[in-house]
Amino acid sequence: MIENRREFIKKGCILCAGLSTSALVLSGCEATHYIAGTLSDTDLIVPVSEFNSEKKDKLQKRSFIIIQNEKLEFPIYVFRFSDTQYSAVWMKCAHQGAELQASGDHLYCPSHGSEYNNLGEVKQGPAETNLRTFPVSVKDDSILINLRKA
Ligand code: FES
Repeated sequence: MIENRREFIKKGCILCAGLSTSALVLSGCEATHYIAGTLSDTDLIVPVSEFNSEKKDKLQKRSFIIIQNEKLEFPIYVFRFSDTQYSAVWMKCAHQGAELQASGDHLYCPSHGSEYNNLGEVKQGPAETNLRTFPVSVKDDSILINLRKA
């Protein structure tokens, strides 16, 4: 079952890579939204509105976004649990440091198959430790990811 899911995800990503024409690409069954965010002295700042998505004129909420900023060595996966609750997870595999891929509410490693949930907790090895995470707070219309307190 897991092997079938991995195969599906891999094929989906290969297909999606070919379809990518903008900052939006497909990952698994959900469109992935990439943004750069804004860096301050301590925080990476993301407008809450980045989780908004319009589908057939209906406003929907994305379950996650990925922050890719040239000043960061790895992307950060930000998962939305509610309007005020988010997780921020460093997308560097705890096994041997490969960049992870996101698919809905989990992350997986294309190198050796480790899997993590949306809190960065390891769910399948070979990785044995959880991912690095960052404290997240919401102020006004912004999500603040504290990069100093990992
Ligand atoms: S580097 Fe990710 S599982 Fe090995």
